[in-house]
Amino acid sequence: MRQRRTTMTSKWVKTVILMKSPEVAPLIPETSRMTAGHVERMLHRYGMVYVKPERGTYGNGVMRVEMERGPFGQGYKYQSGTRIYRFDRFDSLYRSLRQRAGKRSYLVQRGIPLLKHGGRRFDLRVMVQLSPKGRWETTGLIGRVAAKGKAVTNYHSGGKPTDIHTLLAPHMSEARERELVRELKRLGQRIGRFYGKHYPGFHQLGIDIGLDPALTPWIIEVNTNPDPYIFNQLHDKSMYRKVMAYRRFRLRNGH
Ligand SMILES: Nc1ncnc2c1ncn2[C@@H]1O[C@H](COP(=O)(O)OP(=O)(O)O)[C@@H](O)[C@H]1O
Ligand SMILES: [Mg+2]
Repeated sequence: MRQRRTTMTSKWVKTVILMKSPEVAPLIPETSRMTAGHVERMLHRYGMVYVKPERGTYGNGVMRVEMERGPFGQGYKYQSGTRIYRFDRFDSLYRSLRQRAGKRSYLVQRGIPLLKHGGRRFDLRVMVQLSPKGRWETTGLIGRVAAKGKAVTNYHSGGKPTDIHTLLAPHMSEARERELVRELKRLGQRIGRFYGKHYPGFHQLGIDIGLDPALTPWIIEVNTNPDPYIFNQLHDKSMYRKVMAYRRFRLRNGH
């Protein structure tokens, strides 16, 4: 029998698993292990990529890498924290990235041009939990706005949990927003069912979703040990109460 586990830390393993779902796979930005070849090819294809530790949390070590056209031709830059580093040559860019990565295993992922709120990037967190009746349900939906000048939206990196209506309304009609929310809830449930079927033992997932200007919901990351307390940052406590109730039920009764 497969070993039951409730968390999974490798972003690479989680991506490979999810790629097996034909419905979900098209929403996963192309992801590879970080090598000079992969970073160069993806930068040329997409113009912008994110590199991140295979086993990281809180946005630590996540960097945004871009190609740019300078006055003297092609250049490169990357952002780490609030600092930006520029390079003329790809070799020097990669050497610096590798140095910052240290001994850690890193991944490279197609960068999603995230929508902004007041000049700051934001993404969404979809909370999916096994209900007391044993069905996967989307119990929470929240936005996270990056701290000023940062490329990551994580709460522990200064990101601000924000209700999604505030963030979405300026970018779309009310009807489109309702449709998107339905789409996100369905997507969350689908991912929950898929994980639950192939890896029994999980009871909660927190999915990081990036929206691009076309409003495509890209799956940036699936967390198997998501922080329930960000929902307590919202004025309206109804989501928080549900998230905590489902969580308590599972912690008491197991999976
Ligand atoms: N491919 C990407 N495109 C756009 N933003 C990204 C991408 N990957 C990561 N980010 C940003 O960085 C944050 C942290 O990355 P994530 O992969 O979720 O790692 P962590 O485990 O540290 O949360 C994301 O919430 C998002 O704001
Ligand atoms: Mg994350």
